[in-house]
Parts: sequence; C-alpha cells; structure tokens
Amino acid sequence: MNTASTIRTTGTWSMRLRTLRLQLRFLLPLFIVLVVAAYLAVPLLDKVTLRWFSRDLNSRGLLVANALSDSIAEALAAGRLSRLQTLFDRAAQDERLVAIGLCSPDGRLIQSTDRFPADLSCARSLEVAHKPDPRLALSGGAVHVGVHDVLGHRPAAPAALLSLDDWAPGDAGVEGNKSAVAETPASQMLVARLVLLHDLSFIDRRSEDSRNYLIGLIAILGLVMAVITMVVAQLSWRGWLSGARALMRGEGLVSPLMPAPELAPFAADLRARLRDMEDEYRRAQGPDAEWTADRLRTLLSTQLSGDQVIVVSNREPYIHERTADGIIVKRPASGLVTAVEPVMRACSGTWIAHGSGTADREVVDGRDRVRVPPGHEEYWLRRVWLTAEEEKGYYYGFANEGLWPLCHVAHVRPVFRESDWEAYRAVNQRFADAVVAEATGDDPVVLVQDYHFALLPAMIREKLPEATILTFWHIPWPNPESFGICPWRRELLQGMLGSTILGFHTRFHCKNFTETVDRYLEARIEHEHSTIAYREKETLVESYPISIEWPAPEQVERWGSIAQCRERVTARLGLPEDMCLAVGVDRFDYTKGILERLNAVERLLEKRPHLIGRFVFVQVAAPTRNSLDEYRNFQEHVQRVTDRINLRFERDGWRPVHLLAHHHEPHAVMELFRAADICVVTSLHDGMNLVCKEFVAARDDLQGVLVLSRFAGAVRELPEALIVNPYHVEETADALYSAATMPPGEQRERMASLRSTVHEYNVFRWAGRMLADAGRGRLRNRIEARVRRYRAD
Ligand code: F6P
Repeated sequence: MNTASTIRTTGTWSMRLRTLRLQLRFLLPLFIVLVVAAYLAVPLLDKVTLRWFSRDLNSRGLLVANALSDSIAEALAAGRLSRLQTLFDRAAQDERLVAIGLCSPDGRLIQSTDRFPADLSCARSLEVAHKPDPRLALSGGAVHVGVHDVLGHRPAAPAALLSLDDWAPGDAGVEGNKSAVAETPASQMLVARLVLLHDLSFIDRRSEDSRNYLIGLIAILGLVMAVITMVVAQLSWRGWLSGARALMRGEGLVSPLMPAPELAPFAADLRARLRDMEDEYRRAQGPDAEWTADRLRTLLSTQLSGDQVIVVSNREPYIHERTADGIIVKRPASGLVTAVEPVMRACSGTWIAHGSGTADREVVDGRDRVRVPPGHEEYWLRRVWLTAEEEKGYYYGFANEGLWPLCHVAHVRPVFRESDWEAYRAVNQRFADAVVAEATGDDPVVLVQDYHFALLPAMIREKLPEATILTFWHIPWPNPESFGICPWRRELLQGMLGSTILGFHTRFHCKNFTETVDRYLEARIEHEHSTIAYREKETLVESYPISIEWPAPEQVERWGSIAQCRERVTARLGLPEDMCLAVGVDRFDYTKGILERLNAVERLLEKRPHLIGRFVFVQVAAPTRNSLDEYRNFQEHVQRVTDRINLRFERDGWRPVHLLAHHHEPHAVMELFRAADICVVTSLHDGMNLVCKEFVAARDDLQGVLVLSRFAGAVRELPEALIVNPYHVEETADALYSAATMPPGEQRERMASLRSTVHEYNVFRWAGRMLADAGRGRLRNRIEARVRRYRAD
C-alpha cells in the first residue's frame, strides 16, 4: 500500500471513528432510557399480571365452590362425609387445583384431599385468603388460597351449627363473599367453608414469560430505534458536513448559491466572522510594504543615486525666538512643516526657508545655515532673509491676499497689486539663487513647496537645467474661470511648468490645473500620461495626498496615557470632569470654518438643552497673518461670536466655548487630541488638512469621533468620519450630537479603520511616491542622453 492510500485509509478510519463517536452520543442516552424503562416496567407487569391471575383464580374457585356446594350441603346434612372424598379427589385432578379442604363453620378441617397440607389450619387459610396477595408458600411451590362459603338450608330448630354471625367479622372466604352472605336468604345458613389451593407455578411461569416478552420487546424496540437513529445521524452528519465544507469552500457563502436552509444561520455567522477576521487581519498586518523613513532613504540611495535633496518653503521648520529667558525654538503651526519635516530628517540635505524668528540670525553660521532639529542635527536649515517690505509684498500681499483667496474660493475677494507681484517675483528669484548656491551638483532633487513659489521652478530650471524639480501645491487649485481673474495667470502657469513633477492633493485639483493650462497657454496635454509639454519641457501632473508621520510607540508613550492627558487638560482649562469635550485646532484662518463650527455649537445647545453644562468646545486658533485686515477682522469676529455664545449659555462657572488664540507646541496639541471626545474640522475649503490625521494618530485607544468637512481633501481618505457641510449649521449641529452620543463600539470601529488608513498612507508614502516618479524620470533622461551620445558618435 502506498503512502497516499495509507493516508486515505487512515483518514477513512478516523472519519468512521468520529462518526461512531457521534452516534454513541445518541445511542448511549437511548440505551440508558431503555434500561430504566425495563427496570420500572417489569415489576409493574408482575404486579398487574398477578392481580389478573388472582381475580381469575378467585372466579375459578367460586365456580368450583358453586359446583360442589349442593353436594357438600347434602352430604353434611346426611352426615355422609365420605361421599365428599371422591368428589374432592375428582375435582382436585384439575392440574391447577392442588388441594381441597373443607372446614366446619367453627374452623375445624373436616375433609381434605391428599395434598392438602397437614399444617394448614382453617383459620390460617381464612387469614391468607383475606390478604390482597393470597399467596402461600408450600414445599411443593406457591399456592393461591381461596376460601368459599358453602350454604345449606336452615333446620327448623337451631342446631349445634353456628350462624353466620358467629364467624369472625369480615371473614368472607373470598372477595365478595360477605355480600353473598348478606344476600343469603333467611332460610339458608353457612354449613361449611371450602378451602381451595390453586397451583401458582403456572402464574410464575406466565409472568416470567411475559417479563421475557417485555424485555424482548424493549430490546427489539431499542434496536430498531438505535438503527434508525444511527442511519438518520449518519445521513444528517454527512449532509451537514458536506454543507459546512461547501460553505468553507465559499459555495453559498460568497457565491449567490444558497446553502441548505438549516445551514443558513451558520452561513450568516460564518460570513460575519470571516469579515471580522479579514478586517482584524488587515488592521494587524498594516500595509503590504509599509512606507517608513528607512524605506525612503533606501529609495533615495538606489533610485536617486544618493543625489542631494533641497527643500524650499516659505515657512521654516524651526523658529528661533528671543525671549526674556533667552533663545527658544518654536515649531510653527503649519501642515506643510508637519509633513515635510520627517521627510527631510530621513533624507538629510538642505531646507531653504524664510528666516522669520527674532533670534534666527543669531544661531546661523557664515552661510546663514544651522543644523536642525536642535539636539539631533539631521539636516541643514538655510535661512533666507527678507526685508519687511519684501515680506509685505511677497508673503502678505501676493501670496496671502492674492493667491490664497484665489485658490480657496472662500468668499474672500483676492487682491492683486502690481507692487506685490514685483515683490513676489523678486523673492522667488532670491530663493532660486539660494537653491543654486546650495546645490553641490548640477542635478539636485529640489522639492518646491506651495503657492509662495509658483515662479521658482522655472527660475531654478533656467540655472540648473538638469535638476529634478518636484513642486507640491499644498492648497486647492480652482477652476479655470476662477483662476483666470489673476492678472499674472500666464506667468504663474509658466513658472510652475518648470517643474519635473507638479503635485496636488487630489485628482480634482490636477484636473483643474490641466484645464487652466489648456485655457491660458499653448501647451501639449497628454491626458493618457498626465503630462503637460510646454516649450519642449515635460511636466508630470499627478496627485499625491499628503499625510503625517505615523507616531512611533516611544512617541506615544511620551504623550502619556489618555486618562493623564484628560486630567491635565481639564485641570488646565478648569473644565468639569465628566463633560463631553470637542476640540478644534487650526491656524486662525477664515478658510477653516471656525465661525461655522461656533454657530453649530450654539445650535447644538439650543436643540439639546440637556447638554448645557455638559458640553465644552475648545478651539485652539494659532495666530497667523495678523497684519492683514481680513485676518484681523475675522479673528475679532470669532471672538465676538464666542463671547456672545458664552454669555448666552454660561452658568455656575461653566462656559461652552474656550477660545485659545495662542500658539500651542505639537505635544500640547497631541495632549488635547488625546483628551478630547470629538475633533471638529470644518474647513470651507482645504487642500488636505492634516489636523484630522493627527487626531486619528493620537487615538491609540480607538476612541474619539472625527467630524470632518466635505470640503477638505482628507475626506476622500477618511470616509469613516462624520462628514458635514460646514455651511449647513443644522447638519453640523446634528453631527456634533451624533458624535457626543456615539457608542464606544461604533467609535472603535470607525477609529480603527481611520487609523489603518492614516498609518498606511503616511507622509513617507507621499514623499516616496513622488521621489520614485522622479527617479523613473531621471533614469529615462539618462537613457535618452546615452542614446543621443551613441547617435552623435
Ligand atoms: O494650508 C497650506 C499651507 O501651506 C500649510 O501647509 C501651511 O500651514 C499654511 O498654508 C501656511 O501658513 P503660514 O502662512 O503661516 O506659513
């Protein structure tokens, strides 16, 4: 026998054994029930048959007595007792009649057959016959004792014979004799008693027979039931097994084919369990190949051959400020910085930014550079100094009064001034020069960040034609009509098309950009490859949703437990401990929908008055662009609305809105996120919004609800949030209420899913995808250059 058939045989036997064990589960209780039934039924049967036979023998005895009574009475009257002997002997020939005895009314045995026991007196016979079970054990076997009255005619004068009343009370020979006596006519009297001893051995035999029949019947019944049970169990087991196997194979589980009806509940449970397991597995596994700082570094050294990375942004990642206590380092409230800083730590290189801190100049070297992060020194920060005039025109003016409202379409009119445009151009040139100065070769990888530098890519390209320029536009891109109101729309587009790759958060913004180029420039657009060729230079226009660095376990530990964070926040802000805490964390900007969310909080308290005193909304609003009228007006407006709401609802030291309009360092923001029940993001328009992703990353306890604007780019990745239209106050108020009353189980489901998305789509993936695309482009360029060389040779 080969191994396969041995395995098959072993399998069959073990299968049989399993089935046998299953059948035993049915048979064993059945067997026990049958044994108990037999145990109870046999004595009962004995009792019943004995009663039947006893009645039978009594009636037989009565018959015999009736038949003999006349002859006995005559013989007694004639005094010829010897005649009776022959009569009795003949009657005793009956195989079931063992012996006959005749007792005088005064209890003497006056005549008997041979087998009548010598030691059995008339009184004893009468006593036994009165018992419910008139059985007597003799040496020859058990007998049934019956005593029957024999009546004769009463003589004219009383004789020596006793009357019936002289007998002991109730001494009728057999059941019913007393009534017979009672009915005795006055002319008749008791003349003797006939004692009949019936053979009981046949009763024992019969009762044993019926006992055997009963046991046999129970045994056969049991056997039949066992066989039927085994067959049914076998068939059901096989049916169930093949049904369950079919379910496991996915038939009827994932296909529309329905399983057997009795398996339907099992299929539903199995289906639900499989889905849960799949979810748990996916969450536990994390992304297939997680993007990490190491993976990004490897990509740089392989696909980009370790080339120099230069980042350019307006906002610097670390700001040195002079305070009364000396120089401190601040981290700005900026989504851009949150995202790009971990990438820069992974890539090293140089970050060029506007040096805006009051002590920035004091810490740089002779080339305006400083190693950061402080204490770790992983990359260079090169600062560019701007005059107040330059900053006013380029940053406050063109970037934030022109491009910012132009791109956000947040119902704030863009302002375009010629002088601002000039400043913008000049500053872009200053930064382009800084890039060239920092470049150690002719083909660095330059990451240009945001709307402050629309002209920079083309300017760098002019000086470093071999550079790989990746421009990322962190804010939305409007439709061509909206963008068309900018007097320098062509120059901006031309500047951006100096990029090798131009990235936006969403495909929608890519589409808007491509349509804008199509409307205002003579360019060749390849929709198939998402490229735009302009003046012999090709730009890949692609979407790269930005994200955050997923916190390392040590980092989470440093934040402190959720309970500790909650305790610290409630103590610091003087909040009641058992309140529902909602938080918003934003730059104090009109695009963030802060007014709209205050209105929603007010409406919530109007609609749900039971939340008064129990709901607190904390808004962190980081100061930003304060020198602009639009911002100052907006910030004052928010303060007024806050005061109004607080005045309307506050009581006993509780107020619903806490507006914290000052800078918070990242650890303070994380503490607030961990303390909160709800995080509210109601941007009126946002490229991505990283606050919501930071909130999700902060909640390793899988609790907390995210209320997210449908106008933030992040909404595409985070559908498990409660999505709202911030312009719809009623809807936002209802969402706040749903969040405040959401059961922990639902919070857990939503938060676990949000976390797995943010974990997988982290900032290293964002940078990695862009750099990988850049690497492919550079490889293609090198190959083209070689081909050109071959042709020239
Ligand atoms: O939202 C886009 C963005 O560039 C952010 O990345 C950044 O936080 C903000 O705009 C700019 O802020 P600031 O003007 O303070 O640098």
